[in-house]
Order: sequence, then structure tokens, then C-alpha cells
Amino acid sequence: MRWFFLVLAIAMVATIYAIGPRGEKFSDPPFELFPDMDHQYKLRPQEPSEFFADGQAAQKPVSGTVPLGYSLPHAGNDGNTGSDLEYSSGDGYASTGQFGDNYGEGYPKEVELTPALVKRGQERYQVFCTPCHGDSGNGQGIVSKYWAIPPTANMLDARVSAMPEGQIFSTITHGKGLMGPYNGVIPVKDRWAIVSYVKSLQAASGN
Ligand code: HEC
Repeated sequence: MRWFFLVLAIAMVATIYAIGPRGEKFSDPPFELFPDMDHQYKLRPQEPSEFFADGQAAQKPVSGTVPLGYSLPHAGNDGNTGSDLEYSSGDGYASTGQFGDNYGEGYPKEVELTPALVKRGQERYQVFCTPCHGDSGNGQGIVSKYWAIPPTANMLDARVSAMPEGQIFSTITHGKGLMGPYNGVIPVKDRWAIVSYVKSLQAASGN
């Protein structure tokens, strides 16, 4: 029994010695194995700064900045009116590209195929599709220079050129494979505009 108390006393002293120094203050910063970007170069709002011409760290937001949680008013968004910005208008051809289970050919009656539509499509295509599919639609966008696999579809090849308008509309709407869906991103009318531009790229390539 005596030995037990002796061992117990030694164990207690050892334990207190081992954990006791915790809470002591050290003047050195702790060693950080994973800094997790805790320390970054930054300017505090009221600080002076030599970087900016006016000598202040706090700068006004760039003109046209939209604060998080607010959206641009619909009218005035690139000249679109509210009715052009529908993201879905029911289950008709105009918003699905399909008649029942089949992809449709041609454009819905709500969308008139005009040079202005193709021009709008070109502009939207260059915003949304060029990074992957390339300016000409050949699938060699900037992304292909960095992530070569899996390959982006070449929209000029015979297989994609043979697709009816409704199928391309549907691909933009729902995405395919690694291509994400654009149904909540590109309004219906702009999706048809992009379809018309893709069709013109295909026609220009001879397919
Ligand atoms: C993030 C890269 C990316 C972007 C952006 C992108 N796509 Fe794609 N797209 C792909 C990939 C990858 C495939 C091949 C999908 C597969 O076959 O699995 C593809 C396939 C396609 C196809 C062929 C579909 C089929 O059935 O073979 C069409 C048409 C197409 N994209 C059109 C577009 C249009 C129009 C846009 C712009 C609105 C666009 N894509 C934006 C990556 C992208």
C-alpha cells in the first residue's frame, strides 16, 4: 500500500509538471504548421497609405460596383427590358427546346431570327461559352490550355452541327457532363440568341 501511494504521488507530480506550464505566457509567437493565410498584407480603413494617390487606405468603391445582396435593376441591364429576362416561361418549346420527348428544329415563335439576335448571341457566347469552347466553337478555349482532359466538345464537328436548335438550347439550359446548366444564369431569350450564333458559327465552318 505504501508503494501505491508513493507511485501515485510521483504520477501526480509528473502530471502536474507536464500540463502545469500551459497557460504561461510566451513572448514568441507559436509555431504555425499550417498558416492558412492568417497573415496577409492589408490596409486598415483609417490607416494612411503611400500606395494610393490620396494617401489614404480607405478608397471609394469603383463606380458601378454592386454591393453583395443587391442586384442590378433589370431594365438597363445591357438594354434588356424586364420581359427579356425570363429564365423560364413554362413548359412550352420556347423554354425547353422540346416538343414532348423530342428536340425541336427552328426557333420558337416568341423569338425572331434577326441579325440583332445573332449579334446579341455573339456577345453572350463570348461571355459564357468562349472560355471552354473557344471563339470559333472548336473546343479550344483557354480552358483547354490548362486542363486538357476531358476535352470540351467541338461545336463545329458534324455530330454537334447536326443537332437541331432545340437540342443546343436544351444543352445550354441543362448542361452536359462537365458543362454546367445555364438555366438560372442566361435568360431564355439570350439562350436562343446564343443558339442562333452557334448555328452561324457552324454554318461558317462549312458544317
Ligand atoms: C466549363 C466549360 C464549358 C462552358 C463554359 C460551356 N461548355 Fe459546352 N461543353 C463543355 C463540355 C466539357 C462538353 C462536353 C460534355 C460531354 O459530352 O460530356 C460540352 C458540350 C457542349 C455541347 C455539345 C453537347 C452534346 O450533346 O454533345 C454544346 C452544344 C455546348 N457544349 C454548348 C455550349 C454553349 C452554347 C455554351 C455557352 C452558353 C457552353 N457550351 C459553355 C464545357 C463547357
